[in-house]
Amino acid sequence: MSESTVAPLPHVAIQVFSETNQIMAVVEEASHDRRMVKAHLRIQAGGVAAAVEAYRDAPTPNVIVIETATDSRVLLDALDELASYCDEGTRVVVIGHVNDVHLYRELMRRGVSEYLVAPINVLGFIQALSEIFSNPTAKPVGRTIAVVGAKGGVGASTLAHNLAHTISQDLQVETVVVDLDLPFGTAGLDFNQDPPQGIMEAAFDPARVDPNMIERLLSRCAPHLNLMAAPSSLERIYDFAAETFEPVSDALRATVPAIVLDVPHMWTGWTRNVLVRADEVVVVASPDLANLRNAKNLIDTLTLARPNDPRPRLVLNQTGMPKRPEISVAEFAKALDCDPLAVIAFDATLFGTANNNGQMLSEVQPKSKAQEAVLDMAKALMGRQETKAGKKSLISTLREKLGNKSGKTKAA
Ligand SMILES: Nc1ncnc2c1ncn2[C@@H]1O[C@H](COP(=O)(O)OP(=O)(O)OP(=O)(O)O)[C@@H](O)[C@H]1O
Ligand SMILES: [Mg+2]
Repeated sequence: MSESTVAPLPHVAIQVFSETNQIMAVVEEASHDRRMVKAHLRIQAGGVAAAVEAYRDAPTPNVIVIETATDSRVLLDALDELASYCDEGTRVVVIGHVNDVHLYRELMRRGVSEYLVAPINVLGFIQALSEIFSNPTAKPVGRTIAVVGAKGGVGASTLAHNLAHTISQDLQVETVVVDLDLPFGTAGLDFNQDPPQGIMEAAFDPARVDPNMIERLLSRCAPHLNLMAAPSSLERIYDFAAETFEPVSDALRATVPAIVLDVPHMWTGWTRNVLVRADEVVVVASPDLANLRNAKNLIDTLTLARPNDPRPRLVLNQTGMPKRPEISVAEFAKALDCDPLAVIAFDATLFGTANNNGQMLSEVQPKSKAQEAVLDMAKALMGRQETKAGKKSLISTLREKLGNKSGKTKAA
């Protein structure tokens, strides 16, 4: 294994559960390696039982590494339980103390990414993690979420920025928000930032986009949150070819777990292409007739263009505006044949304050209904399990079933 063949880790969160000092020391040393600078590596004492305990009610990181000295059966049962708590996309690496081919097969069958046999060395450990992401057959790290309005001014950008902020702060997932409204974008204002060029350089020179350029175009707005800002200036004309933003979104997807694209309300080759290529599309609409027609057209057209992807999600925003007649949520849902992902009421004070102060909803009023709705959106769009607290593990459901069976037998 030559050192140069080990690719640096992307912006991923890795949690290690370790039972021995040897592994603790290796992980500690690995955390200082140059290939780990973007990754968030954390270590906790305890093996698989500690991991099960930790994630019963909490979101799982991109990678969970579990060192285990326990018996294979106990390990496999615990891993099955852990699997029922794991969020979509979480990878598991196991470090064991026995070179056992049967155990290896059982682990692979359960979707474990790698089984390492202790003692391990620092570079071997980094390589195992690196290969999860750099392998040509590896799934991309990131998920792109494109947010677009059914009409101008319906709050698409506001929700896109709050969604990105919430994914980064509440779910603790490294996130980039990309402002694609080049002439008029407000992400810089909303995050109270005055960043440099941002997306413009990538838009005018897509052939030169590479990971180094991407790093340069990002500006940090909060822990785990970066912005690729729009120039928001009228000095240039923004006519783009349909594929213009493909390199930048592909490059981001290769290294960042969550990418929120703030797509302006337009229908051009490039906006259509961005929406068709996104992993998730969110259509934001206000409850009036033009919004209804446009949202239907957008959802139908995009569903046809991406038959094997999730349908675009509908978010109704600015509902219940005083004195304004509106189409009810039920009618909207029926006409579009979909349940809205979120319904967010018009709240001039909350949104107006956030707007004027360059703050997020969670900074103005963290317990507001609007912020709760954004958090639910964030969880659903990132494939987070609904209410983990109320969710039973496979093992406990199985135990219950067995218990019920024996109960029935007794009664009979
Ligand atoms: N639920 C809401 N209640 C009150 N005001 C809101 C709500 N949602 C958004 N707004 C306000 O509506 C205005 C327009 O929002 P925003 O710029 O996000 O819309 P947009 O759909 O991105 O518009 P554009 O078409 O210009 O890109 C902003 O002032 C924002 O604060
Ligand atoms: Mg906008």
